[in-house]
Amino acid sequence: MTDKHASMDDQVAAATEPLQYDRMLVVLHWVLAIGLIYQLGLGLWMEDLPKEPPGYRAQWFNLHKSIGLCLGFLILWRLGWRVTHSVPAPVNPLDSWQQKLATWAHRLIYLSMLLVPITGFLGSSFSSYPVKFFGWVLPKWFEPDPDLKSFFAEAHELSALVFMCLLLLHFAAVFWHMFVKRDGLLKRMTWGRASTD
Ligand code: HEM
Ligand code: HEM
Repeated sequence: MTDKHASMDDQVAAATEPLQYDRMLVVLHWVLAIGLIYQLGLGLWMEDLPKEPPGYRAQWFNLHKSIGLCLGFLILWRLGWRVTHSVPAPVNPLDSWQQKLATWAHRLIYLSMLLVPITGFLGSSFSSYPVKFFGWVLPKWFEPDPDLKSFFAEAHELSALVFMCLLLLHFAAVFWHMFVKRDGLLKRMTWGRASTD
């Protein structure tokens, strides 16, 4: 941005846009990164748990549902914050394929971050088991329906799979910026000060 050949548009953007994501978005990014990676691992791991002794498998399912609901609220909060606050200008040139890919990948990550907990909640709501939030039984919104339960369970699995693929792309992009381009991208998502070059 400080390059003397930078266009007028770039200079205006540099003067008006922040250099980093604001602190709330940084905190939510990292809290959700840890929570979501744990939750993905828990979801995959608990699928193969035995049904005996009674309650063993259910206790892990209930933990997954409770954590999932917390993450769902944090995701809504993050999305609300994101659309009402300014974010730094893109690091890549605006009309480059890298920037288009980054914009769409971020949009799809946000979409799948919404779809995964919503389908999980709906799948559980149509099952005959109550949804418990850390032991507290939530009101039943829907009558049990095995067809809708399996539809949303499939949708939950599929959206979690798409989410995991997008995360692999996200990690590859971040590592490319860190180790190949070395453009200080990671600092934009931390509390330290990002430089302008
Ligand atoms: C579950 C894990 C993660 C999710 C869901 C996630 C999601 C996202 C999303 C949606 C954005 C776009 C932010 C926005 O424009 O509002 C973003 C940005 C970013 N993420 Fe992640 N992320 C995850 C893990 C990570 C990890 C492990 C790293 C580092 C190794 C990382 C580094 C970054 C950086 C540096 C940015 C800023 C990109 C930029 O300036 O354009 N993320 N992340
Ligand atoms: C917020 C993020 C969430 C993530 C990342 C996540 C991830 C996963 C994953 C990876 C699986 C294994 C899928 C499979 O192999 O079939 C799974 C299963 C499951 N999840 Fe989630 N989940 C989330 C939220 C929720 C919520 C909010 C609920 C319910 C309130 C829920 C309920 C379930 C249930 C019951 C299963 C077992 C399979 C099924 O019957 O659908 N999940 N989850």
